[in-house]
Amino acid sequence: MKFFIDTANLEQISQAESMGILDGVTTNPSLMAKEGVKGNKAIEQHYIDICNIVDGDVSAEVLADDYEDIIEEGKRLAALHKKIVVKVPCTANGIRAIKSFSDMGIRTNCTLVFSLGQALLAAKAGASYVSPFVGRLDDVSSNGIELVSRIVNVYRYYGYQTQVLAASIRSVQHIIQCLEVGADVVTSPLSSIMALLDHPLTEKGLAIFNKAAKELA
Ligand code: E4P
Repeated sequence: MKFFIDTANLEQISQAESMGILDGVTTNPSLMAKEGVKGNKAIEQHYIDICNIVDGDVSAEVLADDYEDIIEEGKRLAALHKKIVVKVPCTANGIRAIKSFSDMGIRTNCTLVFSLGQALLAAKAGASYVSPFVGRLDDVSSNGIELVSRIVNVYRYYGYQTQVLAASIRSVQHIIQCLEVGADVVTSPLSSIMALLDHPLTEKGLAIFNKAAKELA
């Protein structure tokens, strides 16, 4: 399973990359706004900065809604760097744009996916990635992991090449469940990635070994 970090924060991306476990980055307009990035030029430079840190795909989300505008913006984003994957919302215009990008050889991530039907349209349009939002489904008393599992099974059964990128991850438990149901990629905040390391027996064992190490010195 590939591991993406879900942030536009350059320091956090560098920290995850330096651990040697990072396969890519996802961003969205809210995450970009959180970093105070404003205006087309600054946004484009920020994507280039991210691409220069990470060794993997970087999802850059379009802000446009209309088909023609999505195409124009997506082409501009894709031209910034070969690591850029154009992130497009799962709407009628978005699906049409994903099909056009696919015909042009531009890679896409179909985002804001909350149902198997949406995932089917994303795959048929030729999306490189589909992003089911696990946490936001859980928030409305639905089951995000179950959706990831159903998409994985259907894609494998029919041989769709679209990779299942589990998004809106809120916990270590979500990451482990995505691993168990066969997600191709999980994108999560740095806090959840770091929390994978936590185990009281590791801490206790380390304290014992450190004490013994002092006696050996
Ligand atoms: C990433 O691709 C998504 O935009 C992100 O995971 C959404 O996460 P949130 O539901 O925590 O905003």
